[in-house]
Amino acid sequence: MEILKTRTGLLELLPKGIVIAELGVFEGAFSTQIKRIVKPSELYLVDVFSGRTMSGDKDGRHCKHIDLNTSYQTLTQVYSRDEHVHIIKPLKKNHEENVKIFEKELAYQGLSVIIPTRECIVSLNKRMREKFKEKKEEKV
Ligand SMILES: C[S@@+](CC[C@H](N)C(=O)[O-])C[C@H]1O[C@@H](n2cnc3c(N)ncnc32)[C@H](O)[C@@H]1O
Repeated sequence: MEILKTRTGLLELLPKGIVIAELGVFEGAFSTQIKRIVKPSELYLVDVFSGRTMSGDKDGRHCKHIDLNTSYQTLTQVYSRDEHVHIIKPLKKNHEENVKIFEKELAYQGLSVIIPTRECIVSLNKRMREKFKEKKEEKV
């Protein structure tokens, strides 16, 4: 078994042009390295992109607290400069439009990035319950 010194070493071992999903993107620093080193044919960046979070070493060093909404805004600005990068809302009403985007990007031979974003179902349910409660109270 080989122990790699850095995580970029892992990226260097991966074949070029593969499909990659990074689960937990934080500020997107590793995403940039994935894009540069592996040159994936598709890159999916997944995060909750909502609220605040922290990342750091197990021993409590190098801790950084960030606002994931800001991270999302920055990442969408950075990636939307590329015509093969799409930030989509995977909702039923956008289905046809989203299918067209996927078809176009599947036909494209270079790197495509498709970032599906939608509100977390738990927070949506909570928001809807509160809205419903407010409306009910207004009626009384
Ligand atoms: C340690 S950071 C990721 C660091 C990043 N991969 C890098 O190497 O720079 C962990 C990230 O995972 C995200 N995360 C945690 N739980 C998640 C979940 N259930 N779904 C999506 N993202 C999640 C957090 O919001 C945070 O941005």
